[in-house]
Amino acid sequence: MNKDKQTHLPFFGIGKILPFVSPYRKKFAIMVIFGLICSGIDIIWPVYNSYALETFVNGQTVKGIWLFLAVYVFTTALSAVLNYISCSYAMQIEVNVNKDMRNKAFRHLQTLSFSFYNQNSVGYIHSRVMSDTSRIGSLVSWTVMDSVWHLSYLAGVVIVMFSVNARLALMVVTILPAIVILFALFQNRLIKINREVRELNSTITSDFNEEITGARTIKSLVIEDKMFRDFEKNTSLMRKTAVRASGIRGAFQATLNIASSLGLAIVLWKGGYLAAEDIGMFSLFMTYAEGMMEPVRWLIDAISDLITTQVNIERYFKILETRSDVEDTHEVIEKYGDTFQPKKENWEQVSGDIEFVDVTFRYPDGDEDVLEHFSLKIPFGMNLAIVGETGAGKSTIANLVCRFFEPTSGKILLDGIDLRERSQLWLHSSIGYVQQTPHLFSGTIRENLLYGDPDASDEKIWEVLRLVSADDVVRKLPKGLETDIGEGGDLLSTGEKQLIAFARAIISDPKILILDEATANIDTVIEQKIQNAIGKIISNRTSIVIAHRLSTVKNADRILVVRNGKIIEQGTHKELIDTKGYYYSLYTKQYEDEATSAVLD
Ligand SMILES: Nc1ncnc2c1ncn2[C@@H]1O[C@H](COP(=O)(O)OP(=O)(O)O)[C@@H](O)[C@H]1O
Ligand SMILES: [Mg+2]
Repeated sequence: MNKDKQTHLPFFGIGKILPFVSPYRKKFAIMVIFGLICSGIDIIWPVYNSYALETFVNGQTVKGIWLFLAVYVFTTALSAVLNYISCSYAMQIEVNVNKDMRNKAFRHLQTLSFSFYNQNSVGYIHSRVMSDTSRIGSLVSWTVMDSVWHLSYLAGVVIVMFSVNARLALMVVTILPAIVILFALFQNRLIKINREVRELNSTITSDFNEEITGARTIKSLVIEDKMFRDFEKNTSLMRKTAVRASGIRGAFQATLNIASSLGLAIVLWKGGYLAAEDIGMFSLFMTYAEGMMEPVRWLIDAISDLITTQVNIERYFKILETRSDVEDTHEVIEKYGDTFQPKKENWEQVSGDIEFVDVTFRYPDGDEDVLEHFSLKIPFGMNLAIVGETGAGKSTIANLVCRFFEPTSGKILLDGIDLRERSQLWLHSSIGYVQQTPHLFSGTIRENLLYGDPDASDEKIWEVLRLVSADDVVRKLPKGLETDIGEGGDLLSTGEKQLIAFARAIISDPKILILDEATANIDTVIEQKIQNAIGKIISNRTSIVIAHRLSTVKNADRILVVRNGKIIEQGTHKELIDTKGYYYSLYTKQYEDEATSAVLD
């Protein structure tokens, strides 16, 4: 994973965000305009007040005070209403932009290939989709709204001060650059320490994630204590850093107070004489000198915020701009549609002839070829078995048939046509694939099976469950088909998960069936049942059965023995035994092992 670099160009990337804000531009415009009006009212207020002071206090009269009060009430109400509307629009923009950005990311993630998920951790992707989008969302709503208010307030105050008393205004304004420099120094340290806090926070989160997903392993390795000490080390460090951060923030606040007092002091010192001459103008300057500090502080805050959010923007768009290693060409999408808008009317009927033509393959992050000049023909209806040691390349072959990866050179044909000339969705909807480590979704058994075929009736569900001998398992569950199986199906045993995954794969009656060690975690009794099931379900489709236990593949039409990505032997079980080669030695060894363990049991 690349370490994200910190760029110091705060406005880079804003252009990419615009399309997300654009649908809400009307609300955005109203939010800005109302913000401007509110700040206008806030600027005029002191002027109005000073007028009142002069007229009613200095002038010793109450004539016209009703009008004054009426205007007062009206503008206060107006300001409250406008403020309410722009805040509610800011909130709507925030949540809508969040929603759109998350949906877009989620949708894009569906199109990315396996290698993307191999290279990026769950935690990393999770933060991009959830927290980066939330920071960007608040940037385009609240930060913009507040900036509008503060910037225009500051500008308005300076203009009014200069037009009222330029000499005094100049003196008050001269302290601004000094304050900016002072604040910026603090801000720099705050940015740094905030970054430390965030990094620690993400370390703690990912440690915590691992602790939960690996809870069983941690117990079995008896490393609870070590894990806790590691965790505690980080939380302590986090506490220390957070305390340091709040120290800096406190000092910052104190400096801010001193700075605004400084502004007031200047007004008192240089403009004190006004108190006697022109009480209205004096109070005006006092209010402005104090009120000026908040926007200055806020602007410096906003700029540093913009700098840090820059990283969120970059990371989010990096995900969005990641292209899949396996992509349908423009022509293919034109004809067959994409993942979200398939044009099923143009999909050809699949027969199920598969052919590898001189395929060489290396994983995108691998450093040697897993398959080299690999050629293989699997005619429709064949039940092909692939056996070989762990790491021989069996799952790789299955992944290539599914086009989860594409050959580095050579091609794979389905019904005589290169897989790259058809849409992935078309291919995937013709394949039932039970992976080595099957994944079930949280929800009920029925929901999981319906992922295979949304229209399956209850009869069909039970028929398929019977076929793979999973009916007993489901019947024994407290709520049968309606049993909630927990996150990732973890309330079931691995063998049970495999059976359900098996049922889910065949419920849509796919033309091609791939079982990758689907029986590896199933006891011999159920395995025997599955064995029979395979016998029944492989008719009228092409099937590839990858097996570790050789007894499962005895009846296959053809058995491939793979070693280091090459086919070293092939034939029927009988032929291979007669050859007395590698398969023969594997088989006799497994047979002996199983016989021994049977005796020991
Ligand atoms: N995603 C991957 N990235 C890089 N190398 C991989 C990946 N998956 C598998 N490999 C490597 O490819 C080789 C074949 O793996 P695989 O096809 O899974 O073997 P098998 O299924 O026969 O046990 C192994 O050396 C494995 O380390
Ligand atoms: Mg494998």
